[in-house]
Amino acid sequence: MWKNRHLLGIAHLTRDEILELLDAAVRWFDLPRDGTGSPRVLQGRTVVNLFFESSTRTRTSFEVAGKRLGADVVNVSPQTSSVTKGETLLDTVRNLEALRADAIVLRHASSGAPEFVARHTMAAIVNGGDGAHEHPTQALLDAFTLRRRKQRIEGLVVAICGDILHSRVARSNALLLGALGAEVRLCGPRTLMPRDAEALGPTVRVFGRIEDAVDGADAVMMLRVQNERLAGAMIASTREYARTFGLNARVLARAKPDAIVMHPGPINRGVEIDPRIADSDRSVILDQVEAGVAVRMAVLEKVIQAADVHRAGIRATA
Ligand code: CP
Repeated sequence: MWKNRHLLGIAHLTRDEILELLDAAVRWFDLPRDGTGSPRVLQGRTVVNLFFESSTRTRTSFEVAGKRLGADVVNVSPQTSSVTKGETLLDTVRNLEALRADAIVLRHASSGAPEFVARHTMAAIVNGGDGAHEHPTQALLDAFTLRRRKQRIEGLVVAICGDILHSRVARSNALLLGALGAEVRLCGPRTLMPRDAEALGPTVRVFGRIEDAVDGADAVMMLRVQNERLAGAMIASTREYARTFGLNARVLARAKPDAIVMHPGPINRGVEIDPRIADSDRSVILDQVEAGVAVRMAVLEKVIQAADVHRAGIRATA
């Protein structure tokens, strides 16, 4: 039974809670496309997207998810908000709460920002990606996609290749896939690999060659080099990187014949992935995006319900 009024990271979830979210997402995913049968369980509720970093998929899919559940969804852009006049993150969140935001989806460049604001608000806080720390809904939608394609997660071999050092996606996926019993292989240049990468879980192993990481894998998840975090300066050249760590037909041939290719997006075609692979029938990149809506519907429904219970408990003891 779900009790968390925030979703701050996979590290905070038990195996059962992860499965509860994935199962709830199946229900939303299977709804007819024409909108019939969509219970508006969040009618009259307000979801705020507060994104301090750029986003296409996460912000849009939270908006679609909230609207499909009947909520009002408001997008706040820090660039055009009073943050530019010096208002702090916490004051911004408190003002959004005063406007009766039920849930705030926060993306921030600082690791731990969602956890910090969660300690000071009654609204449900959902981590939409914080620095290089966690991106829990991305890992959940990745697991949803894997489970749909492979009918299981336990025992799968998943290679995650690229800029591991700066990747909140890699971190959340290593935690989640490890919790569900998959073998996780992390691969990238030494300069883009955290020193403590294997500490992410007992099923995590580090590889220096993409050919070895992909060998016999059930799924290959490629990550881009995060130039906005100056990762470009940590590789010799883009061309050399593509040749050494990019996914192409030659490398993919090392994986299982039915291995799927994943990427959280945005993809940099011709750098970490050959466009012909990204667009091939092995690629489930757009399936991941589609799954994001159902997963985020499940998350919004559960955290807002838990926040209601929390608020009622406080009123009862006041
Ligand atoms: N995968 C992901 O987080 O994409 P966006 O940055 O577009 O939200």
